[in-house]
Amino acid sequence: MIYAKQHDFGPVKGFEVGIAPLGTPIKSVYLYQIGSILIDTGPHHLRTKVSAMLGGTRITSILLTHHHEDHSGNAALLKKQFSTSAYLHPYGISKLYKGFNILPYQHILFGKAPLFLAEIFPAAIENENLTLTALHTPGHSKDHTVFHAKKEGWLFSGDLYVGEKIQFFRIDEDITQQIESLRKIAALDFDKLFCSHRPCMEDGRTRIQRKLDYLIRFNQQVLELHNKGMDEKEIICRLRIKNDLPVKLFTMGNACFAHMIRSSLNSLQSITK
Ligand SMILES: [Fe+2]
Repeated sequence: MIYAKQHDFGPVKGFEVGIAPLGTPIKSVYLYQIGSILIDTGPHHLRTKVSAMLGGTRITSILLTHHHEDHSGNAALLKKQFSTSAYLHPYGISKLYKGFNILPYQHILFGKAPLFLAEIFPAAIENENLTLTALHTPGHSKDHTVFHAKKEGWLFSGDLYVGEKIQFFRIDEDITQQIESLRKIAALDFDKLFCSHRPCMEDGRTRIQRKLDYLIRFNQQVLELHNKGMDEKEIICRLRIKNDLPVKLFTMGNACFAHMIRSSLNSLQSITK
């Protein structure tokens, strides 16, 4: 039922965790440890495993890429276990202090994150050998932040990447912000992409650029079809590659292709206002 595996990416340890009723996780989540820095904390359902995997090591800073429950689920626990600080963007700090609702599928896969008070990122996050820069990259969520290790050529990308040709958006995702965030990150120097769901050990920057190109092209296609007089439903039928009904049903409408089209149409409307 519980899946947990440690991956060694050179000096970076990756802890892959997830709920796996049939042996492989329904959705893998990665935590990364670089010396005494921990990036993301995994879902609360995996708390016993995560706590044990990190036991015996020294953690002096916990960084959260964003407040979503699969990333923040064990932050309160690990902050206490290691008597350390946990850092996050101010929007996420408020979410994890006041609480936020999650849907049944999120309860099943991840569990609710216990509330706690995080702190705002310092200008640079450092340990003995490493300096990380926090870069705000909204779009997937308002607080989304990535961490860049310039000297090493690493990017800890949270949910900024996940895949190149995505076909699902959450209801609260913003395609214009995602394009701006990807553009900002594509200008950085890095090769290894430590994605929270799919680590890529080569061509990281190229992958970010390809996702950026895809989303720009997607927006253009929506604009062209909109200009031909098609409505939202007709554009969805024309552009959809996969049938997203199982995902839509499982997430109770929180994730689907239609949200991607809507976000694109909203961005076009704000441009033409
Ligand atoms: Fe997320």
